[in-house]
Parts: sequence; structure tokens; C-alpha cells
Amino acid sequence: MGQNQSRLENAPILTVENLRVVFSKHGREVQAVNGLNYQLSSGRTLAIIGESGSGKSVGVRSLMGLLPPSAKVTGSVRLNGRELVGLSEKALMSVRGKEIAMIFQDPAASLNPTMNVGSQIMEAIRLHNPMKKREAEVKAIELLKLVRLPSPETRIRQYPHQLSGGMRQRIVIAIALASDPKVLIADEATTALDVTTQAQIMELLVDIQERLGTAVIMISHDIGLAANYAHDVMVMYAGKVVEHANTKSLFSNVQMPYTKALLGAVPQLTTIPHSRLTVIGGHPPDLSNLPTGCPFAPRCPRATNVCTAEEPPLERQNDQHSYACWHPVGGQPLEAAGTADVLKVDAQDGACSESSTSTQERAVFASSLDERAKR
Ligand SMILES: Nc1ncnc2c1ncn2[C@@H]1O[C@H](COP(=O)(O)OP(=O)(O)O)[C@@H](O)[C@H]1O
Ligand code: SF4
Ligand SMILES: [Mg+2]
Repeated sequence: MGQNQSRLENAPILTVENLRVVFSKHGREVQAVNGLNYQLSSGRTLAIIGESGSGKSVGVRSLMGLLPPSAKVTGSVRLNGRELVGLSEKALMSVRGKEIAMIFQDPAASLNPTMNVGSQIMEAIRLHNPMKKREAEVKAIELLKLVRLPSPETRIRQYPHQLSGGMRQRIVIAIALASDPKVLIADEATTALDVTTQAQIMELLVDIQERLGTAVIMISHDIGLAANYAHDVMVMYAGKVVEHANTKSLFSNVQMPYTKALLGAVPQLTTIPHSRLTVIGGHPPDLSNLPTGCPFAPRCPRATNVCTAEEPPLERQNDQHSYACWHPVGGQPLEAAGTADVLKVDAQDGACSESSTSTQERAVFASSLDERAKR
């Protein structure tokens, strides 16, 4: 019985198989997502990282049917065993917000400026669970307590412009949690916030996850956030997963040259807390005209003939680590990685952040990895 129980708890709530999204645009087909496969269990956090345009947002939006009609979605997305791909818009509406909820980058744009925040939370509560206004108000105050908003009884009557960015994002999270979703997707949800508020919101998500057992997918440009808060990290390039690993394994045993370049190839762990992903020289391929072979080959210093001739499959190195590469980096710990195959990186937009991180912060980072890995 105990064993069965534990097997059930670890059973994936979300199973994505061969998920593809193609947009038809000016008579051309843009292959935005090219065969995603992953699973997510309750209480786990998966971070998705990759350059702009790599298919992160389209990949998660397709889980909820939140794409324009020009998108053709194929493959399989099973939530608690129920297939979502191919469901009618009406059926998807009952999944969206109720079983899978999403929070976006800009809390101001997610809220209605003309309604007080209490009414907006109550509206979300009553949409999925019809109840009297008074009951919904009690539940709204409970949700505001859950997202640790001070003085919820007063705040509930306020309008979005009367709240700080961090408070507004707490309201957005409260709305997302209104129907007790099983999967919460945060797409760059803290990017617009200052560093301290980002950390507070991430701590809140971890806290909520631990209390409610929600599965979380976070998309972030901040390696520090992914490293500190995700159990697993999936790296996307040109609509595909090129490396997928337990967070600790990824950072100590990086294999795919693209991941290495993205995380910054020079002395590493020093740049982790709140570091943006490194900007890599060159451009990702045209998604309407993907090359044969490895899509990263034109930018990769390790590329050989086999790379341009044949695409490397996503191979499992072990239970915790998969990567797609014919000539993997070889598991140098990032901290010790040399500069031998450093990629050309552009220092524009401050992406190659200067290291000002103390040894103490690094120790915090390393121990948080240990903590997350144990869970
Ligand atoms: N509505 C659309 N029509 C056509 N192409 C789109 C549309 N939305 C996204 N794309 C394309 O899909 C690719 C992946 O986009 P996206 O998932 O938003 O990237 P990101 O990794 O930055 O979140 C991009 O190349 C983008 O141009
Ligand atoms: S398969 Fe070849 S081109 Fe692609 S990342 Fe690996 S070494 Fe580079
Ligand atoms: Mg995006």
C-alpha cells in the first residue's frame, strides 16, 4: 500500500510526447516546436531555457491551446491521463486556468486596470467554481494570504495601479491559483521585477508548491533562478530539446556545446546568481528552412562532417541526463571548464555579466542545488 502510494505520488501528472507546432505564414511553414518529449510530476519544477525564438513559449502555450489558429499542433499532451491535443476549444477552456494555469511576464498587462483586485480574483474563483459573492470574497482573502500579500482585507479593495510590481505579480499568482491548478506555468514571470522581488516571488512559488504539490514549469532567462529553483532543466534550441537533466547534473556535467555556450563558457559558478544567459555569436537557424544535421552546427566549434550530415538524437546518458550531440563536451564541471572550445560570445546587453559574486553566494548556490536535488 505504502509502495503503491509512493508510486502514485511520483507518477507524472503531465506527459508530453512528440509535440510539434507548425505555423503557416505567407505560404511557408515555420516549425516552431519540433518534437518535445518530457514528463512532469506533482511538486516538481522544470525550467526551460534557450535563446529567444527557440520555442519555449510556443511549447508551453500549446499545452493549453493558447495559440492562434495559424498554429497546427500535433503529438500528445496528457494531463492526468487525459489527452489535450485535439480537444475542442470549449473542452480546452475547462482545462485552461482550472487544471493548468499560466502567469506571464508583465503583471500590469495581465490585470484589468478598471477593476479592483478583489473582484478580479473573485471572478476567477467563480468562473470555475460557482458560489455566492460573499463566499468568493472569503476565498479571495484566503488566496491573498496564500500568496503572502500583507493586509489582504484592505488590498482586496485596491486597484492594480495602487500596488507595486511585486504585489501585482502576487495578485496574478493568486488568480492563477484560484482553481487549484495541478500545473502552473511561469513564462518569464519574474523578468520585469527587480532582483529582490524576483527572489521573493520565486520563494513564494516554491512555498506554494510545497504546500499544494503543484507542478511548475518556469521559463527564464536567468540562469541563477533556474539553478536555484528548478529540479530539472530542459535546454531548447530551434524548437528541440538539446539537453535535459536534473539541475545538479546539468551544471556539473554539461554535455551539449550549445548549453555550455549559453551558460557562459568561462569561469562559471561565479556568475550563476542572477546571471542572464550568455548571448552567443551567430544566429539560430531559419525555422521555415531547417538545415539537415545538427541545427547548431553553423555556430559550433566542435562541428565535424557527421554533424552537418546527420542530426544527433537526444540520447540518455543516464536516468538524470540526456543530450543531443555527436561530440559532447565530456562532463567538465562548469567551474573547471577551460576556454579551449569557448564559443564566440557577444557582450551586448550586459548578458555576459561581470562576476561580483562572493564565495559565500556560490556556497549558497551549491547548497541550494543539493537541497533541490534531494527533494
Ligand atoms: N503567431 C506566430 N506566427 C508565426 N510564427 C510564430 C508565432 N508565434 C511564434 N512564432 C515563431 O515561433 C518561434 C518560437 O517562438 P517562441 O516560442 O515565442 O520563442 P521563445 O523561446 O522566445 O519563447 C519563433 O521563431 C517565432 O517567430
Ligand atoms: S552535434 Fe556537432 S554541431 Fe551539434 S552541438 Fe554536437 S558537436 Fe556541435
Ligand atoms: Mg517566450
